[in-house]
Amino acid sequence: MHDTVAVLGAGAIGELLAGGLLRAGWERRELVLAARRPERQKEIELRVGVRTVLDAAEAARGHRVVVVTVKPGDVLSLIEQIRPVITSEQVILSLAAGVSTQVFEEAFGEVAVVRAMPNTPALFDEAISAYCVGRFAGREAVGAAVGVLEAVGQTILLDEPLLDAVTAVSGTGPAYVFLLAEALIEAAIREGIPRHAAERLVKQTARGAGMLLADLDTSPEQLRAQVTSPGGTTAAAVHVLEERGFRALVEDAVRAAAERSRELGRRAEGGS
Ligand SMILES: NC(=O)c1ccc[n+]([C@@H]2O[C@H](COP(=O)([O-])OP(=O)(O)OC[C@H]3O[C@@H](n4cnc5c(N)ncnc54)[C@H](OP(=O)(O)O)[C@@H]3O)[C@@H](O)[C@H]2O)c1
Repeated sequence: MHDTVAVLGAGAIGELLAGGLLRAGWERRELVLAARRPERQKEIELRVGVRTVLDAAEAARGHRVVVVTVKPGDVLSLIEQIRPVITSEQVILSLAAGVSTQVFEEAFGEVAVVRAMPNTPALFDEAISAYCVGRFAGREAVGAAVGVLEAVGQTILLDEPLLDAVTAVSGTGPAYVFLLAEALIEAAIREGIPRHAAERLVKQTARGAGMLLADLDTSPEQLRAQVTSPGGTTAAAVHVLEERGFRALVEDAVRAAAERSRELGRRAEGGS
């Protein structure tokens, strides 16, 4: 028997989460999704096979964990919709980028709130979700929220002010890897490798390098040193990347994403 879960916002992340909960052993009757449009309601019911309703309040009522998976700009109107049905028995698990736990606490009173940032490898139960806890979230409530997040991967507890940086690092992170893969494929093609071969080479390289990074107790620097012989090919490539400011570029990109997360959060909270 699992905690019952209502996922409010049947979009990309809502669908990933519902799928992950089913794979992790949740029964269909323990789950409900809320969509906003009838077309999406039908589509997701067909694809995921979980009951989907068009009324977020109906979905939220009585479910132990209420997951907020709408865009940050839709959070305030969702809060207005569900405010009458939320009780202190429930846990709010918000995945909305930039929106603070305080926003939910001000709306719902002394209710347990957990704010988290997962990422899309959730599709293969390989997400990393950083989470922080609100003022009224006790051990059991946090356990219930973490149980939901663990259905799609790993979790890590951090202080709330770091969540915008997390959004910029691991929330956005898959996109950086995809961009690097795109660039590498294009470069391979310019070197004369046919596209289909370039794609296979790059995709499998990303998967293999990811496994080395994740599964060995070795730092990225050490792994890179192992494949960089003095005067060799990797050294030549890394020299160009370093000289052209690769690290500074990554740092600027992450800073821009973190700032955007803060900005979206401020807007969602009704600030400027
Ligand atoms: N995508 C990621 O990689 C990622 C990673 C971590 C966290 N997040 C966070 O997850 C949240 C959702 O992102 P997403 O990419 O899944 O966005 P999305 O695909 O746009 O999904 C949001 C869904 O919520 C629906 N919705 C909005 N208001 C609603 C309401 N009042 N009742 C019921 N449904 C409602 C939207 O309906 P419509 O179809 O009518 O628009 C949409 O289908 C965001 O806050 C984002 O910050 C995303």
